[in-house]
Amino acid sequence: MAKNEEIKLLYNKKIKSLKKHNKLYFTNDSPEISDADYDNLKFELIELEKKYPFLKKIESVSEIIGAKPSNKFKKIKHLQPMLSLSNAFNKSDMEDFLKKIKNFLNYEEKQIELISEPKIDGISATLVYENGILTKGLSRGDGSTGEDILPNLRTISTIPKTIKSKEVPTLLEIRCEIFISKKDFNKIKHKFANPRNAASGSLRQKDPVETSKIPLKYFAYGFGSINPMIFKKQSEFLETIKKWSFITNPLGQIIQNLDEAEEQHKKIDELRSSLDYDIDGLVFKVNNLNLQKRLGNTSNSPRWAIAYKFSAEKAFTKIKDIIIQVGRTGAITPVAKVEPVTVGGVIVSNATLHNEDEIKKKDIRVGDIIKIQRAGDVIPQVVSVDISKREKGSKKYVFPNKCLCGAETKKELSKSTNKEDAVRRCLKGYDCKFTAKEKLKHIVSKEAFNIDGLGKKVIEQFWDLNLIREPSDIFDLDYSKIEKLDGWGKLSINNLKKAIKKSQSIPLDKFIFSIGIRHIGQENAKILASFFSSIKEFIKLLDFKNRKKFLYSLVDLDGIGETQIQSIDNFFSNKTNFRIVSNLINKLNIKSYVGINNDGKFSNKKLMFTGGFKNMSRSEAKAIAENNGGKVLGSISKNLDFLVVGDSKPTKRKVEQAKQLKIKIILEKDWNKILNS
Ligand code: IVH
Repeated sequence: MAKNEEIKLLYNKKIKSLKKHNKLYFTNDSPEISDADYDNLKFELIELEKKYPFLKKIESVSEIIGAKPSNKFKKIKHLQPMLSLSNAFNKSDMEDFLKKIKNFLNYEEKQIELISEPKIDGISATLVYENGILTKGLSRGDGSTGEDILPNLRTISTIPKTIKSKEVPTLLEIRCEIFISKKDFNKIKHKFANPRNAASGSLRQKDPVETSKIPLKYFAYGFGSINPMIFKKQSEFLETIKKWSFITNPLGQIIQNLDEAEEQHKKIDELRSSLDYDIDGLVFKVNNLNLQKRLGNTSNSPRWAIAYKFSAEKAFTKIKDIIIQVGRTGAITPVAKVEPVTVGGVIVSNATLHNEDEIKKKDIRVGDIIKIQRAGDVIPQVVSVDISKREKGSKKYVFPNKCLCGAETKKELSKSTNKEDAVRRCLKGYDCKFTAKEKLKHIVSKEAFNIDGLGKKVIEQFWDLNLIREPSDIFDLDYSKIEKLDGWGKLSINNLKKAIKKSQSIPLDKFIFSIGIRHIGQENAKILASFFSSIKEFIKLLDFKNRKKFLYSLVDLDGIGETQIQSIDNFFSNKTNFRIVSNLINKLNIKSYVGINNDGKFSNKKLMFTGGFKNMSRSEAKAIAENNGGKVLGSISKNLDFLVVGDSKPTKRKVEQAKQLKIKIILEKDWNKILNS
């Protein structure tokens, strides 16, 4: 082939790929490659055009790329993390939510006033005002760091650029949801799958002129940092910012009890279709801001709020096949491959069947017509089978008792309930290539090593090419092989190298979470990290002679039980895990654990609680101790610094033991004094 022909072919191939990724980015708002890879592709095309001007006659890159950002947005750390909300799906979930709040606050009889607001299905953003002037506008990003999208947000005319009021706090951070109205969406619906994608695509335009072309609106619903704090209630906050010209949702409602919450949920659900914006539920928040502060957050969501979702959107379709997938814990999940169907604006072609029992119970078969539902971002589920439409000769589905790797699967016995688990698992861990791949995807995820540019798809690609088999391989990648792959160029490789290098320095809690010990999630990883403090201590678990002794000391930890301890023991007893974790540690700089606040009133002190307190629950007392630098233990040992004894029914034996060990005892009245000092 003549050289020019070859170049033309290459050029056309790359142009095709650029167009595909443009469409994925703009139209579908679901890019498959990183911004860096996109830039690289564009760069390669421009270079080709420069070198071979005849190519410009075919197509011109500059015309195709339009307003695609050439650089990433500047990243800025949020003043306060932007969390997510936990969900309720029915009245009993709401009842649980209220119960938990009352327990935490030790509010036995007292009623707790809530405020209900529609949950706007848009894109969250945060606006920072300094002395009443809008100075920062960020996207949510990963919750702790957002992207600087101020110029785009400034194009929304209804967002105040200055606040004209003497009362405005010096620092005011307003949280809001950006959306596009249903009416406006109708005019551009050929370009986007749903209003949310349209809003997101528009907000992420690098050129604010492009953003201003799509009519964006917003509702302000909350705050991040405020200094000085002048509000006492969420309702008061909303009323005040409305006076300051922010747009707040008119459907907010004060709620006094569960029945009122249920009534409001029904009422707004009925109104839903007549609203000019998408909502997917109601957010219920504790109205009193002092109580909100006391309740605080778990690692991902506030304890003082919940999203009560509307019932899921449903559709009918046909099962083409049932396959099984292996998760990172070896869980075997059956998945129905269905004929593509639109459910709530999203095309669905897979639905989860949960587990073997679920298939048996509903007698789900290949070829069946089924009803599926999709609630929020959750994977669509199969609700029911229309038996009347079942074809003659259809056969019961036989659940495979082997993993995709060929190993036998098992249903484990739960230690706490003594019942058989519903989920079948492959117990081979890293020795099963299907589980191993999922474990690697977990390792690179946001909550773990958080490696930009190394997502699930890239792990698949690198796995298939034998570039990665275990976590430590990430730090020994053969870049000369990656360079030759489609879609990888100098720029994207450099970015990947940088991201991997950055991730090598990792805090102990994230490291513990990353290695994927069953039953050790983010919260437990923090508890363990706080206990071991440094990797030097943690690796004592690798030493099989001493492991039992160390495991035994974990019994002291509040939050760690027998299930967790057994799981840690199993994990490190496995030779492959042992080798893999050792190899990984060798590649890393694991930073010692720094608690939420190490300089508080209980800095580096170990506390234990017994008995109940009048003004707070045990959970709140524990949270206060931890927020003040303390560690909470679950049993008496000579390591303990303080035993805090509540007035209501303390365990006598514990008090006696503490006295014998000469551990300082703090009585309820002293505890209250310390907190108020
Ligand atoms: S309050 C989590 N109120 O829902 C911190 N959120 O799943 C408290 N959202 O990121 C959030 N309408 O983008 C709150 N009235 C409302 C909301 C709302 C929509 C979004 C928001 C948040 C997400 C949490």
